[in-house]
Amino acid sequence: MAGLYLHIPFCKQACHYCDFHFSTLLQQREAVLAALVQELELQQGYLAGEQLSSVYFGGGTPSLLTEKELDALFTAIHKNFSVHPQAEITLEANPDDLDLYTLNVLHESPVNRLSIGIQSFREEDLKLMNRAHAVEQARDCLRLAKEVGFEKLTADLIYAMPNMSDADWVQNLDALLQYDLPHFSAYALTVEAKTALHKFVKDGKVQPASDADQKRQFDLLIDMAVSRGYEHYEISNFAKPGQRAVHNSSYWKSEPYLGIGPSAHSFNGHSRQWNVSNNTKYVQALSRGELPATVEQLSIFDQLNEQLLTGLRTSEGVNLARLEQRFGPELVAQLRAGLLDLKDDWYQLRHDQLVLTRSGKHFADLIASDLFILADDEH
Ligand SMILES: C[S@@+](CC[C@H](N)C(=O)[O-])C[C@H]1O[C@@H](n2cnc3c(N)ncnc32)[C@H](O)[C@@H]1O
Ligand code: SF4
Repeated sequence: MAGLYLHIPFCKQACHYCDFHFSTLLQQREAVLAALVQELELQQGYLAGEQLSSVYFGGGTPSLLTEKELDALFTAIHKNFSVHPQAEITLEANPDDLDLYTLNVLHESPVNRLSIGIQSFREEDLKLMNRAHAVEQARDCLRLAKEVGFEKLTADLIYAMPNMSDADWVQNLDALLQYDLPHFSAYALTVEAKTALHKFVKDGKVQPASDADQKRQFDLLIDMAVSRGYEHYEISNFAKPGQRAVHNSSYWKSEPYLGIGPSAHSFNGHSRQWNVSNNTKYVQALSRGELPATVEQLSIFDQLNEQLLTGLRTSEGVNLARLEQRFGPELVAQLRAGLLDLKDDWYQLRHDQLVLTRSGKHFADLIASDLFILADDEH
């Protein structure tokens, strides 16, 4: 099974914290969408005929797509790929787009899962983030999405915001938990270079949350979510039993996926590639029948390290016996030796299943990179 990701690189306005690829020049959308269709055609063979278990419209803002534009993309997907009849088909949506009309259009389309970017139920956070929606719209769209019949719903929240006390975060999270969604994601705010937020912090206009604030709010998040029946199955992701995201899980399990659109990444087990993060260059290359992508062949070390990085973020962790079968005993012996340098309370190793504990999860990326196995010439 494989996944297909389509990047819709447009937003109505730039959120102050966001460094994903998007443009606010909406007049380019016709040309970009035509190029996405061309790329679907060009990349038809990338997944070697594997059936798609998931399709994911991400962005940018896929909820800006009209019914006609969405139809054209689905026609091109079905023309070039085989989609499993029960495939998970997710579309990322912003609350300000989700009126009753759009929700009905989406519900009648093949989209069967909505991922709604709520971010916060506090007006002051939404203002600081420069979101295009207000709290009222966030509340309305969650209620309406359920009413039109979307069963698979997920929402994003951001914590460790400037000026967010623990009590504020608890109240915010509780506001989302009231909707009893089958799934949600909560991300700690990252101050990304070259964003407006980065400049506010640099100019002293905004005081970022401290590491201690972030750690406490992460703990509150896990405790509250688990007490309401959610499984904490990946650092930032929570699902009711049986409701884990199929598409994102395929990334964490190192399954193959194809990414279409400017900035989209693809992975086929042996190489990784990423498209140019520029709408004009993307359209120009595809009009010449070229793929504007950079390809990186993954060495055996890269493949192993990648599995550690993604696997250790999940509640299943990584299985050392399975890694040994794939990468050989020598590299995994190095990995086992690396574990001895970690703090005992950061991980558990039971029947060769390596899993991070709650305190380890605070440092998941750091722990994975400490365990990375390097080729002799990389030491
Ligand atoms: C790139 S957005 C695309 C979806 C949609 N446009 C939206 O804004 O809801 C996906 C998610 O990434 C998260 N995100 C983006 N930038 C972030 C940052 N700097 N720190 C934490 N979370 C971030 C937000 O929660 C957002 O919902
Ligand atoms: S967070 Fe979403 S809406 Fe905001 S700029 Fe990024 S992609 Fe666009």
